[in-house]
Amino acid sequence: MDPKALETEAQSAIAGAENLTELDEARVRYLGRKSELAQALRAVRDRETGMTLNALRDRLEGQLAQRRAELERAELDQRLAGDEVDVTWPGDQFPVGHLHPITQTRRQIEDAFLGLGYEIRDDREVETTELNFDKLAFDEWHPARSPRATFFFDEDHVLRTETSPSQIHALLEREPPIYMVSIGRVYRRDDIDATHYPIFLQFEGLAVDRHITLADLKGTLLYVMRAIFGPERRVRFRTHYFPFTEPSIEPDVSCGICGGAGCRTCRYSGWLEMGGAGMVDPRVFENVGVDPEAWSGFAFGCGIERVAQLHYDFPDIRPLWEGDLRVLTQF
Ligand code: PHE
Repeated sequence: MDPKALETEAQSAIAGAENLTELDEARVRYLGRKSELAQALRAVRDRETGMTLNALRDRLEGQLAQRRAELERAELDQRLAGDEVDVTWPGDQFPVGHLHPITQTRRQIEDAFLGLGYEIRDDREVETTELNFDKLAFDEWHPARSPRATFFFDEDHVLRTETSPSQIHALLEREPPIYMVSIGRVYRRDDIDATHYPIFLQFEGLAVDRHITLADLKGTLLYVMRAIFGPERRVRFRTHYFPFTEPSIEPDVSCGICGGAGCRTCRYSGWLEMGGAGMVDPRVFENVGVDPEAWSGFAFGCGIERVAQLHYDFPDIRPLWEGDLRVLTQF
């Protein structure tokens, strides 16, 4: 074997390889295990020939590595030229969803009550007149019993007009003490306007334990209103009437827009109405077999749209039920 001639031949084969496959063929041919060079190396008997051949192998390996780098570079360039990516091109906007403002409000309310140790209930929307009215001590003449106010399925079944039947469900299900809040849809035959919709959401709370007083109700509502609207809020009670509470009150929360000074949102009173509440009427306890001498409790109910409206400061509840993304994405 003539090392000089071999080197020249191998060098031109390496330099002439047009791609990585050809280069690999050259590598096998001139440096592989069965190559002339490898065989010569195995047969070496004297030091001088060994050094010559080893040096030759080192040079060829170096050239091979260099050519490989060139070819890889060229292939990459070609690939990049092929699938041109213009990094300055504006990207696609993927729309990212978010929770409906009502869901956000609902979760906030749930969090506030969970923090107080209340359990969260979810009761049926088709309710018996027994639970929607009778057990809640609605009188026979009460206007809510009229089909002009309430959606009836038949004589004994309605779309619940409030979440208050949840009080009865909770009391029938187990013994006090009970601390629960029920959230869900309610239905009334109301004409649609900025503050009315025939479907809306309420949250309803019930606490029944020994020695519960009106002060506990006030403290609870104050805590929850502050959790929802912020630490500066105050709460006040006005007397009212509900069939299932005695005494009954309507809680107000101080207006957050004007801080109580008076503005359009609170109709210049400094206060916002926040639903109804009161101490559980002993008649309700009797209706569910709970001893009113041993137990006392309070209940409250409030519209969730109203909370959301005040929270996000928008004037109309209709968009909350209409699913118009132009409105909803703002909240
Ligand atoms: N259910 C009453 C309503 O919808 C509110 C309420 C709940 C009042 C609980 C007292 C106690 O108007």
